[in-house]
Amino acid sequence: MIYYFCKTKIMKMNLSRQELIWLLSTGGEDAEAIFRWAQAHRKIYAGEKTYLRGLIEYSNICRKNCLYCGIRKDNTNPTHYTLSETEVLEAARYAHDKQFGSIVLQGGENRSEGHISTIERLIREIKSISGGELGITLSFGEQSEATYQRWFIAGAHRYLLRIESSCESLYNTIHPNDSLHAYQNRIDALRDLRNTGYQVGTGVMIGLPGQTIENLADDLLFMRDSDIDMCGMGPYLEHVQTPLYDRRHELLSKEKRFFMTLKMIGLLRLLMPDINIAATTAMQSIDPRGREKALEAGANVVMPNLTPENKKEAYKLYENKPVTEWIDLPEEMIGFGEWGDSKHFKKR
Ligand code: 5AD
Ligand code: SF4
Repeated sequence: MIYYFCKTKIMKMNLSRQELIWLLSTGGEDAEAIFRWAQAHRKIYAGEKTYLRGLIEYSNICRKNCLYCGIRKDNTNPTHYTLSETEVLEAARYAHDKQFGSIVLQGGENRSEGHISTIERLIREIKSISGGELGITLSFGEQSEATYQRWFIAGAHRYLLRIESSCESLYNTIHPNDSLHAYQNRIDALRDLRNTGYQVGTGVMIGLPGQTIENLADDLLFMRDSDIDMCGMGPYLEHVQTPLYDRRHELLSKEKRFFMTLKMIGLLRLLMPDINIAATTAMQSIDPRGREKALEAGANVVMPNLTPENKKEAYKLYENKPVTEWIDLPEEMIGFGEWGDSKHFKKR
């Protein structure tokens, strides 16, 4: 066990549930100490650099009806779109030219053979136009193990699937109560992804109605016990065209959700020092410097949005989603042209 002495207390890496609960409840100097030690851990175990993933939001068509999400199936307000293959390849070429190192191809959950084979073809084409140089992360929800394998063989090597909340009863209050949205499916999908050979990313929303500090501590322990390689966490942001909007009166202020997310990032960095942690767009929608603050709290990945301008508006998971692409960081701190794989995965 590694101990560090700081101004107010001893920080150690294998924090207990009780300690996590206590640290999640702190502010002021104690929170500053979390961020400071998280930064130190990040530098030592994950490296000094921040890695880029160009985010391409492929389609807002989804078969699911998560109660919080602006592109849920029953919300007919957004105009449905799916990028053409040319649009995806153009965005990938841009990422390659700008030395982003990797892209994330993300979209709603669709299990049709047409969708699966299009993604498979796009993965091969992106690999081909970049001479194998662009790393590819996927985020297309729950799929069969056979689909995960097809996409892996085609050349994708990382997959993001958030657990949203590791507390099964809370999960059930933010999803419809049917087999399509079963908690166990999510757990099984995370296991299948790992078995297929992907670097696996998960994450949670922070500040959900009904969520407690204990739930958040358990989320951190869930990620540690699942031995994940990457994490993307963000504040929950209410969307007027979703059923969960009815519970907006129960929410913490946006500032508190933001601050809690910073502490979650810092504590996860202490628990899992060598994983990749994203500074997410949802942070930026509360605070214009949200992603930079997340990096200062222990994150090491940013995902500039490369979705064509005319489609960005329709990919609104939550309201006030920012569309700024650039990040305020000195160039020498960015891992240009590198995949920036999870060091944790390499040690598996
Ligand atoms: N607020 C914050 N994050 C959201 N997501 C979906 N809807 C919202 C919302 N209202 C997140 C989920 C999902 C990811 C793609 O976007 O965590 O996994
Ligand atoms: Fe679909 Fe994901 Fe939104 Fe759920 S959160 S409705 S799976 S896009």
